[in-house]
Amino acid sequence: MQRTLFAIVTAVSALLAAGTGYAQNYPTRPLTIIVPFAAGGPTDVIARIVGENMSKTLGQQMIIENVAGAGGTTGTTRGAQAAPDGYTIMMGHMGTHGAAPALYAQLKYDPARDFEPIGLAAGTPILIVGKKNFPAATLKEFIAYLLANPGKVNEAHAGIGSVSHSTCTMLNYQIGAKPTRVAYRGTGPAMNDLVGGQVDYMCDQIVNVIEQIKGGQIKAYAIATTARSPELPDVPTTKEAGLPAYEVSAWNALFAPKGTPKDIMAKLTDALGKALADNATRKRLLDLGAVLPAKQEQTPAYLGEFVKKEVARWQPILKGAGESK
Ligand code: MLT
Repeated sequence: MQRTLFAIVTAVSALLAAGTGYAQNYPTRPLTIIVPFAAGGPTDVIARIVGENMSKTLGQQMIIENVAGAGGTTGTTRGAQAAPDGYTIMMGHMGTHGAAPALYAQLKYDPARDFEPIGLAAGTPILIVGKKNFPAATLKEFIAYLLANPGKVNEAHAGIGSVSHSTCTMLNYQIGAKPTRVAYRGTGPAMNDLVGGQVDYMCDQIVNVIEQIKGGQIKAYAIATTARSPELPDVPTTKEAGLPAYEVSAWNALFAPKGTPKDIMAKLTDALGKALADNATRKRLLDLGAVLPAKQEQTPAYLGEFVKKEVARWQPILKGAGESK
């Protein structure tokens, strides 16, 4: 008996020592950030900007892996099931970690239970945008056109459960519109068709639409925040444009798989915090219209609680719009 006990104590001590040493040297190889949508969209852009600075702190490359499909739930499932070793993390958002549970009866992950929150990366106000030659100059005219042409107007989104799909579900329900809804692997590709005129409108995150608005390639009918964006001072709020009920902003945040060791999580959260404190990184995000989390909103505890609230918030909105499972 003595020998067995001694062997067990020895083995456990070795594991603990290895564990501590493991975290002390972490990371010793490149990390992967899973982005659950196509390259070029808002989640991808935010992951690349934040990841670039995090790699300086961690001393390892941050490789972006775009795993698109099913409104972001394919990649998010991959993120939940990744090895909890600190080498695979993911950029989730209000869709994957907020709306999705209300829309998928068989969702293979629980946003609150199956992840370790690293921290919020960027808030992204939502805009209602249309193709350049859409026959409406104002939000009121846009709404009137949609109501007069049921089924004939194409709305682009990034799949059921995505931010674009959920926020336009909210809009369509509020105004009584019945568009033809066209799914893409992300609002990056969707934007190409909006600029090309193959689709008519979208509800999308500011970081994905700001350049096209400034360049006159698409129309911005309104921004769904209480105040105008300093980066888009000429775009009215939905309240100014006559639709005060439509107020919604999205957010993007980093997560690791459940069970990732605490000291590794601390290094990841520290690297994210340094990125959000870095002036050049802040400027790149702010220039795209992102809203940066305040210091007290950057903690893992804040994100963990926020995800629970977001899942609870989106359930009745989507159920009321007849979309939930
Ligand atoms: C993207 O990166 O394509 C968007 O975040 C997708 C979405 O609308 O949620």
